[in-house]
Amino acid sequence: MNILGWITYIMSTCSFCLCVLRMKCQVLEKESFSPDIHLTFDKCGEFELLNYKLGVNCDNVEALNESLVEVPLETDWLCLSNYKGRKIETAAFSQLTNLQALYITGNVELLSRTFSGLSQLSTLWIILENISTTITFHKDTFDGLNNLLELKLFGVQFSALDTSIFNNLHHLEHLILENNSIRFLSTVTKSLGRLKTLQKLSIIDNDIDVLRKEDCLHSEYPAINGQYVYFNVSVLDLSMNKLQLIENNSLCNFPHLSLFKANKTGIQTKQMFQSGIRIILTVSLTMTDMHLMELCEYSSYFKVKELLLGYNSVFKINTYTGTCTNLEKIDLSHNLLEGIYSNQIKTLKDLVYLDVSFNRINVLDICPVETLTVFSMKLEHLNISFNYVTSLSKGQFSCLQNLQVLSLEYNKIYTIEDFAFDGVTLLTFLNLENNNLFEITNFTFYSLFSLKQLNLYENSLTDTEPGAFFWFNKLEDIRLMFNNILDEIWWSQYIDVSVQHISVKTSNTFLSLLSENFNKLSNLDTMEIESKHVVVDTCQEFVFTRLKEIYLRDNLFCTCFGSVDQAIGNFTNLEKLSYDANSQDSTDIVTLNSSLQYLKKLAFLRIENTDKLIGRAPINVHELFHGLSNLKILHLKNSGINHFDSAAIFSDLNSLEFLLIENQDIQEMNEYASTSMPNLSYIYFKNVIFACNCKFGGLLSWLEYDTRASIINAHAQNCFINSIETNMLSFLRSNCQYDSNFRIFISTFSTILVFMCISIFHESIWWYSLYLFYTVKCWLNHRLRGMEEDLYRYDAFVSYNTHDEQWITEHLLPNLEQNGPPFLRVCIHNRDFEIGRDIVENIVDSIYKSRWTICLITRSYLQSHWCSLEMRMATYRLVAESKDSLIFIFLDKISREELQCYHRLTKLLDKKTYLEWPHDLNGQELFWARLRQVIGG
Ligand SMILES: *[C@@H]1O[C@H](CO)[C@@H](O)[C@H](O)[C@H]1NC(C)=O
Ligand SMILES: *[C@@H]1O[C@H](CO)[C@@H](O)[C@H](O)[C@H]1NC(C)=O
Ligand SMILES: *[C@@H]1O[C@H](CO)[C@@H](O)[C@H](O)[C@H]1NC(C)=O
Ligand SMILES: *[C@@H]1O[C@H](CO)[C@@H](O)[C@H](O)[C@H]1NC(C)=O
Ligand SMILES: *[C@@H]1O[C@H](CO)[C@@H](O)[C@H](O)[C@H]1NC(C)=O
Ligand SMILES: *[C@@H]1O[C@H](CO)[C@@H](O)[C@H](O)[C@H]1NC(C)=O
Repeated sequence: MNILGWITYIMSTCSFCLCVLRMKCQVLEKESFSPDIHLTFDKCGEFELLNYKLGVNCDNVEALNESLVEVPLETDWLCLSNYKGRKIETAAFSQLTNLQALYITGNVELLSRTFSGLSQLSTLWIILENISTTITFHKDTFDGLNNLLELKLFGVQFSALDTSIFNNLHHLEHLILENNSIRFLSTVTKSLGRLKTLQKLSIIDNDIDVLRKEDCLHSEYPAINGQYVYFNVSVLDLSMNKLQLIENNSLCNFPHLSLFKANKTGIQTKQMFQSGIRIILTVSLTMTDMHLMELCEYSSYFKVKELLLGYNSVFKINTYTGTCTNLEKIDLSHNLLEGIYSNQIKTLKDLVYLDVSFNRINVLDICPVETLTVFSMKLEHLNISFNYVTSLSKGQFSCLQNLQVLSLEYNKIYTIEDFAFDGVTLLTFLNLENNNLFEITNFTFYSLFSLKQLNLYENSLTDTEPGAFFWFNKLEDIRLMFNNILDEIWWSQYIDVSVQHISVKTSNTFLSLLSENFNKLSNLDTMEIESKHVVVDTCQEFVFTRLKEIYLRDNLFCTCFGSVDQAIGNFTNLEKLSYDANSQDSTDIVTLNSSLQYLKKLAFLRIENTDKLIGRAPINVHELFHGLSNLKILHLKNSGINHFDSAAIFSDLNSLEFLLIENQDIQEMNEYASTSMPNLSYIYFKNVIFACNCKFGGLLSWLEYDTRASIINAHAQNCFINSIETNMLSFLRSNCQYDSNFRIFISTFSTILVFMCISIFHESIWWYSLYLFYTVKCWLNHRLRGMEEDLYRYDAFVSYNTHDEQWITEHLLPNLEQNGPPFLRVCIHNRDFEIGRDIVENIVDSIYKSRWTICLITRSYLQSHWCSLEMRMATYRLVAESKDSLIFIFLDKISREELQCYHRLTKLLDKKTYLEWPHDLNGQELFWARLRQVIGG
């Protein structure tokens, strides 16, 4: 391709790939980072809890049609946060046919059939903010949403809504009305008569003070628009209304509820008995300022299965009136309970789940030890975490034979008597994290034969008897912490063969991994270690290669015993490695000096809080990631690696798909990210501080011209100049001459380049074209004249200056033409050029018709324009036919220095031998003999 072609190509690619740089939208493709990294947009509230494959958040959008260009067509989850464009036109989203969940916040006005085309849409949330004027929806705004299951309208004044708007939502199951100034329940229920599929009705954060008798609609009661009321609602949520009074029969339309939710209300629970509700399976009354509740009376009246009473002021579990035979689940977290007593809970015969976390419990008297009667409960899940329990006595849980999960973390447990867990043989999960335990005896955990997970983190264990974990046959996951130096060496011997996951921490600086003990842990594949210095007892017979995941925290060194060699590189089967130096400082060889390059299977790597090591410890950042050819996710968090300035850093990361850089600064980053990582699809910057300089120019052009990858949130990144924050992209654009300036620069530069080239090559191109023109013409002439004619009419064409004509006639012509045989045929312009013919044509023709061209070099020859043309033409022929056909004869003695300025000639003379005209007669004899031999041979 010629230069002009390249320029056109560059210019054209620039103009259409600009859109790749997303200015308003960011894209998250869950499968590229989950479950290793938890990433959110942080703009869309609870909507982000919905599941999605390809989620897009467009923030502060003004022109919707322009921003939607940035949204991939296969998007299934879209959040338009802080929408600034006000109106949304008809069928605005119709190209996003895969869309299942859509969220719009801002000051928005929806025109008719806004969502038409979204036949897959199942969840739609519209959150209006700062409504100064009442915005009315079009009657047919929701038309086309044939599969909508959930609709949430926040901030929409219900009174201003034409309720026939819901008429075509044939599959709607859940209507959420939040902050709509609704005062009466029937205002809503009257208009929902035609929503036959509706199962859940949430009227949250409205102004309902009283549930009135009139709110009870009878089916024969004609609703406002002539519709009859038909309800099949089983979930009623009236949270965040005042609900000071519930009149008799006011909830007559909701006789059977699977969930009644009224959290954050002033509801009086006794008033519910006459409300008209007959059955409620789950009652949620969190944050209702409740002090006491007759749990059994309540549950027997409504046949309640689950009571969710968190965040209240309940100080006593009251189960004395009524039977509690239905109750399966009680949540009393965040209340004021001080103890759990057996006489309170023994009536809860069907209770499976009890959560009393975040109370003030210091007395645990669940199982009546003193009585000999066999007493047993169905309880499977007991959460007593975040309380004030200090000790566990013998047989403490013996009546809970069905217990599977026991959470006791964040208490003050100091002693666990032997046989405290006696009888709890089905327990699979025991959490004792963050207590004051110091001793574990051979019988502390007696009976826990089914335990799978044991958490003893954040205790001050100094005495662990070697048989302590003897009882566990099924343990898979254990978290331990040691304070005793001996335990730190021998801890691993306690652990059983079934363990898959070990987390261990020491308060000391060293932690030993003894291969003798690990050898038997044939199922172990994951370790979390929190210790400054991990020592592997031998690297010769390395038994730890079965580990697939290592999480190292608070760590500086991981060495082989008796050596400073770092050992991480020996864990050759690692798939995930997370390393956190906890911002410790060292100038020694540290864990990261290990040869990560041997970790051929590594797919996930996190490097965290190494900010004080990079630059101080002898870590070569350019080699750190070498050899990691299977790495898919790289997470750098406060890593101290802030110059991404060389292709070497990323050169082997050809599988990398996701790069996350978090909580740190970046001084420099260029396009190597793009060139060396062909599979990279996302770069995510989170809390990154950029330096305002042009060392990101490459990054910018990569963003703009590369379609494969995107930088999430690129447009929102800021940089700092003299502690003034400015937008990074604007800075680069205005200071670093990229984008439009860059293109202007490129085009100006190229134009100049073209002109320079034209002027530089003007002469040669001109003459070369001329030569080609004449050659073709001559060749054609030859063809036309037929091949039978001899190819060369002359043996030699002599190119000479007229000043030297005397030598030609006196010496050359006699010696070549008359002194034979053979008698050579020579062409000289004076005699043989056709009269009346173009001179250039004559020259080319003669050169073409002669086997040889002889240039007779003298000082006057070099100065003559025509001679230099003849020589030039002859050399073209030399090049074109790649045939030796040029002979130089030097008549004058011309030094090399003098020839300096005739480049073409000096170049040729370097490659060719030439003849000099001798002044003695002997020499001249020899001269002619040689010349005749060359031409005649
Ligand atoms: C977007 O819509 C506005 C009017 O709604 C129109 O003026 C503008 O040209 C549209 N832009 C594109 C890129 O379609
Ligand atoms: C709504 O008002 C709040 C405070 O006045 C402001 O911070 C917010 O940006 C506004 N939102 C919109 C969409 O105008
Ligand atoms: C609900 O809407 C009112 C105006 O109608 C507003 O003042 C209030 O802040 C809104 N509440 C919430 C939680 O946004
Ligand atoms: C109470 O219910 C509201 C509305 O459903 C919900 O937003 C809130 O998180 C609930 N609060 C608690 C403590 O469950
Ligand atoms: C605990 O058990 C181990 C091994 O099962 C045994 O060696 C040790 O003596 C026991 N300790 C006590 C105090 O019984
Ligand atoms: C462990 O690493 C050391 C040093 O890197 C090396 O000499 C040794 O051969 C490795 N051992 C195994 C079993 O890979």
